[in-house]
Amino acid sequence: MTKRFCILLTAILTGLLFLSVGTLALAATAETAEPKEKIMIQNEGYAKDKKGPVAFDHVAHTKAGVTCNECHHVYKKAGENTWKEGDEVQKCSECHDINENTEKDGMKVMKLQNAYHRNCKNCHKEEKKGPYKKCNDCHAKK
Ligand code: HEC
Ligand code: HEC
Ligand code: HEC
Ligand code: HEC
Repeated sequence: MTKRFCILLTAILTGLLFLSVGTLALAATAETAEPKEKIMIQNEGYAKDKKGPVAFDHVAHTKAGVTCNECHHVYKKAGENTWKEGDEVQKCSECHDINENTEKDGMKVMKLQNAYHRNCKNCHKEEKKGPYKKCNDCHAKK
C-alpha cells in the first residue's frame, strides 16, 4: 500500500466513525423527545393526596390534532413559549411546585394541581371533548 492510500483510508474511516457517532447521538435525542403512548400521571408529595392517578394517552391527543406545545412549554418571558418539538421535556412538577403557587422571572407559576386542571380541563371544556365534569373520568378510583 502506498503512503497516500493509507492516509486516504484513514481519513475515510475517521469520517465514517464520526458519522455513526453523530447518527447515534441524533437517535438518542429523538428518543428522549418521543413520548410513550400511555403514561400514568402520579406525582408524589401532595400535602393532601385525595385522588387516584390519572392515565394520559399521547397518541389519542395527537390524533385529535392537539399539538405538543399546547401542553409542553418553556417560558423565558410571560406568554412566549419557546419549547419546540425535539427539545427536552421536563416534568410539570420541575417548575410547578406541588403545594404552592410560586413566581419566576416575574411570572406567576401556579401550583401543580391547578396547572394540570387548568391545562386538561379547560381545553376539554372549550372543545366539548374529553372529560372535565366527572372527576373519575380522569382520576382512577382510590
Ligand atoms: C381532565 C382530567 C381531570 C379531571 C376531570 C379532574 N382532574 Fe384532578 N387532576 C388531574 C391531573 C392530571 C392531576 C395531577 C395528578 C398528579 O399529579 O398525580 C390532578 C390532580 C388532582 C388533585 C391533587 C392530587 C391528588 O391526587 O389529590 C386533586 C385533589 C384533584 N385533582 C381533584 C379533582 C377533583 C375533585 C375533580 C372533579 C371535580 C378532578 N380532580 C377532576 C386531572 C383531572
Ligand atoms: C420549565 C418550566 C415549566 C414546565 C416544565 C412546565 N411549566 Fe407550566 N408554566 C411555567 C411558567 C413559567 C408559566 C407562566 C407563564 C406565563 O406567565 O406566561 C407556566 C404556566 C402554565 C399554565 C398557565 C398558562 C397556560 O399556558 O395556560 C398552565 C396551565 C401550565 N403552566 C401547565 C403546565 C403543565 C400541565 C405542564 C407539564 C405538561 C407544565 N406546565 C410544565 C413553567 C413551566
Ligand atoms: C394534551 C397534553 C399533551 C400533549 C398534546 C403532549 N404531551 Fe407530552 N406529556 C404530557 C404530560 C402531562 C406529560 C407528563 C409530564 C409529567 O410527568 O410531569 C407528558 C410527558 C411527555 C414526555 C416524557 C414522558 C414520556 O412519555 O416519555 C415526553 C418525551 C413528551 N411528553 C413529549 C411530547 C411530544 C413530542 C408531544 C407532541 C407530539 C407531546 N408530548 C404532546 C402532556 C402532553
Ligand atoms: C388542547 C386540548 C387538550 C388538552 C390540553 C388536553 N386534552 Fe384530553 N382530550 C382532548 C381532545 C380533543 C380529546 C378527545 C379525543 C378523542 O375523542 O379521541 C381528549 C380526550 C381525553 C380523554 C378521553 C380519551 C382518552 O384518551 O382516554 C382523557 C382521559 C383525557 N383527554 C385526558 C387529558 C389529560 C389528563 C390532560 C392533561 C394532562 C388532557 N387530556 C389535556 C383535548 C385536550
